Amino acid sequence: MSDRAYEHIVRAEKLCVSFGKVRALTDIDLAIGRNEIVGLIGDNGAGKSTLIKTLTGVIPPSSGRLFIRDQAVDWNNFSVRRAHDLRFETVYQEKSLGEKQPLWRNFFVGRQIVNRFGFINVREERRIANEILQRQLGFRGVGIDAESTVSKLSGGERQGIAIGRAMHFDADLIILDEPTTALAIKEVQKVLDFVRRIKESGRAAIYIEHNLAHVHALADRLVVLDRGRIVANIRPAEMDLEELTRFLIGLQQTKHAGVAA
Ligand SMILES: Nc1ncnc2c1ncn2[C@@H]1O[C@H](COP(=O)(O)OP(=O)(O)O)[C@@H](O)[C@H]1O
Ligand SMILES: [Mg+2]
Repeated sequence: MSDRAYEHIVRAEKLCVSFGKVRALTDIDLAIGRNEIVGLIGDNGAGKSTLIKTLTGVIPPSSGRLFIRDQAVDWNNFSVRRAHDLRFETVYQEKSLGEKQPLWRNFFVGRQIVNRFGFINVREERRIANEILQRQLGFRGVGIDAESTVSKLSGGERQGIAIGRAMHFDADLIILDEPTTALAIKEVQKVLDFVRRIKESGRAAIYIEHNLAHVHALADRLVVLDRGRIVANIRPAEMDLEELTRFLIGLQQTKHAGVAA
């Protein structure tokens, strides 16, 4: 299915989301190309998490349309499960890895390789886990293999495992919601390297990040959300980091002026 030619992995049209009387998203028009890394930025409460939750079936919108690989989505038939089946994977800030489990088990949670008698093929799972660690993630030589337990991994490596899983299971869109929050600087670099690998492997990503320098360096395009609306689409080559920072500070000032008025 995903081999078929398509232009956008996902496209939202006039998407609106409300929580009771709170309007979290208004008229979102957003299209993500098949090998595009889009950085989603904006102040706390701007609606970033709500937007990705709507694209991944967690939160239903109050109105608007969604297209996946250029095909219209039926909201009545859209769910987290369905988004997953359509090869969307989300990597959250908090990890959902089993601490005491070896890495190979974590790779295959919920997607065991079973033989025709229904038994888990442990040997095959170990082999594949080692291959992902070495080839896709470049963990070679850092003393980590498929038998290592998750508790031995640093924060950045844990995020790497989650990203590696998403790549192995052939996600076409990988969504990262502030994956570097609470990580040490060295660990942040690892996560950024993993995001580069998503790009190199031909996939698309939506990358939510509060550190502007990081998204500015990595993303093909930056989408700025402000109070539930997209207020800018920026090519990093066309706006340097300093100018971007000024732009975002300017938005915050209009916001506070608005509250005071
Ligand atoms: N489950 C929820 N119930 C009610 N309001 C929510 C819920 N989730 C988010 N909101 C509100 O929607 C707005 C956008 O939140 P969010 O998407 O989490 O922003 P961001 O991720 O950009 O910080 C905020 O005003 C927030 O309080
Ligand atoms: Mg958020």
